[in-house]
Amino acid sequence: MKLFFYHTPEAVPPDGSPNLAIAIDVLRATTTIATLLAAGAEAVQVFSDLEALTHTRESWAPKPGLRIGERGGQKVAGFDLGNSPLDCTAERVANCRIFMSTTNGTRALQRIQDTPIVLAAALINRLAVVQYLHQHQPETVWMVGSGWEGSFSLEDTVCAGAILDSLLAMEQQPLKNLAGNDEAVAALALFQSYQHNLLSLLEQASHGQRLLHLQLDNDLKYCAQTDVLDILPIQREAGILVSWSLRSSNPKQTGSGQI
Ligand code: MLT
Repeated sequence: MKLFFYHTPEAVPPDGSPNLAIAIDVLRATTTIATLLAAGAEAVQVFSDLEALTHTRESWAPKPGLRIGERGGQKVAGFDLGNSPLDCTAERVANCRIFMSTTNGTRALQRIQDTPIVLAAALINRLAVVQYLHQHQPETVWMVGSGWEGSFSLEDTVCAGAILDSLLAMEQQPLKNLAGNDEAVAALALFQSYQHNLLSLLEQASHGQRLLHLQLDNDLKYCAQTDVLDILPIQREAGILVSWSLRSSNPKQTGSGQI
């Protein structure tokens, strides 16, 4: 298994395709997606275009649905929710289809949506992602950071490093066997430097500071937690993510299922 990390969707190679791709947007889209599914949302459908989102949501009625819209860290006017994971309570979202668009995270998911298997990762569900990788042994994995409008982000990079760090321990493999590019090695080094104080890194990050200016300190605290949700968002069909339960797998498959 080789893991490649790309800082932004724009950095992903234009040709070639992995067996499995992972979208990462710690602040806050993939943290929010994992939280939505943990709270019982039926599925999360992602869009880059707000009009297409609204049209699809209207067609979904009368089945229960909610619109989540964020631009620049703030809620889109007229939408039900912004992109704060703290708003994603079971009372609000259980059994609803979530129609979601954010500045960067939903773009990362769209960039990789044609990959055979697509997952969404954040710090809060890192272990669920790593257990899936260990169990299914995909030969090539692309981890794709969302960044901010095409630029590098500390928070997505440290999450890629957290995934690699945990996988190294689980696979009992040397780094050269698992890291596919220099960006993956650098991400691991960043995680190993900050693993005991991830909140300080998120507060240092440019988007973390943007959120702090919006008084969203509690969002950063929530997003900085590791392995608190046993939830694995997996793409069921293009742009639609559901929860894949680790408990439904056959533990005997660990390490045997090539992808
Ligand atoms: C993004 O998509 O860039 C983020 O999720 C923005 C945010 O909600 O903070």
